[in-house]
Amino acid sequence: MPAAIMPPGAAVAPARAAGARDRGAPGSRPDVIVAGAGVIGLGVAWRARLRGLTVTVVDPAPGSGASWTAAGMLAPLSELRYGEQPLLALNMASAQRYPTFVAELERSSGTEVGYLRCGTLVAAWDSADMAGLRDIHGFARSLGLRTELLTRRELRARVPASASGLAGALSAPDDHQIDNRLLHGALLRACVAEGVTLLPAAARRWLLRGDRVVGLGLADGTELTAPVVVLACGAWSGQIDGLPPGVLPAVRPVKGQTLRLRTVGPPLLTCVLRGTVRGHPVYLVPRADGRIVVGASSEEAGFDLRPRAGAVYELLRDAQALVPGVGEAELEEVSTGLRPASPDNAPLIGPSRIPGLLLAVGHYRNGVLLTPVTADAIAGLLADGALPDEAAAFTPARFDHAGNRATEGRVADDQAVENRPTREDVR
Ligand code: GLY
Repeated sequence: MPAAIMPPGAAVAPARAAGARDRGAPGSRPDVIVAGAGVIGLGVAWRARLRGLTVTVVDPAPGSGASWTAAGMLAPLSELRYGEQPLLALNMASAQRYPTFVAELERSSGTEVGYLRCGTLVAAWDSADMAGLRDIHGFARSLGLRTELLTRRELRARVPASASGLAGALSAPDDHQIDNRLLHGALLRACVAEGVTLLPAAARRWLLRGDRVVGLGLADGTELTAPVVVLACGAWSGQIDGLPPGVLPAVRPVKGQTLRLRTVGPPLLTCVLRGTVRGHPVYLVPRADGRIVVGASSEEAGFDLRPRAGAVYELLRDAQALVPGVGEAELEEVSTGLRPASPDNAPLIGPSRIPGLLLAVGHYRNGVLLTPVTADAIAGLLADGALPDEAAAFTPARFDHAGNRATEGRVADDQAVENRPTREDVR
């Protein structure tokens, strides 16, 4: 049963009775405006359209943010950090949706999205790392998740290109990957095919009537109105003027750089390989076309999008430490993006404190992974007026007006440990 979500002042009526899939007359008022055309915004728009709603998406440069820079890992387990255990259930729910989501998207868009069920190996740099991986293995098994510990020799047998000195690995066979750029392109096509209106325009200010959001003012002076606006502008979500204080919990930019390498000859890797080299995390994501995406640096540097030479050096150094053959690859591209991080690093999915505004922001390191579950949750909320249970723990209502956890002031990490998911949570 879906959970009805009714935080104070933010009850959501279905945007429109789901019914005939009319596209809406040209120029007519849509049922929903989505601000932001990254994978989250387009996913929401596409799924809402499939639920019978008319949708307009506003973005001056669709897919130019984190959706472009991401590596596309679908890694509920191997991306998990200490203190983020509550995210695991949501991450697992989204990973489980991926096969169906991809099949429907490929059908709707007529394009492939490079979804590779290749699994992930987390390499141990040394024996201390191996001990850490043993802990994760035990944790995963306690939740009924599939993992396997590999000896040094087993790792080399699975990945002959890996460095000979690595201490072993943890195999996470259900952590996969998708080509995030193909995914974004397919979402754009699917939106167009289904009749979503895409406006290449910048949203500058919120339109308010009384205590509710009624639309967006665009950079060219146009005012666009709708019964509901969904905010999905990633790290830039706080940069539209005019929301009352406390409506949007702080979403901070966390800079990440990825490198795209091209290799020739037989592939160096056939699964995702990651590890922590002398304390620096690095991952290598091999695409079907022979490219390898290497990521990702992490810096709290505001909205600075300039690539930093030292980050490129460190990524190449650490990638080469795991897979020496990387040194021979062509460095094709350096990409810089901003992860959108909420105060507790978990997404904000659902009604805001102000009627007429839903949030789909703060996905931090898991935006690509969380696209299906976020899109379906928001589309469900728009069409039925209720948020599915799996998203209920991630509504903006968990923060108070000051952006603190609205639960007796406990810090997120305490909460995270207490909410460590049970076996049932991740089924
Ligand atoms: N999801 C990988 C990263 O944020 O670097």
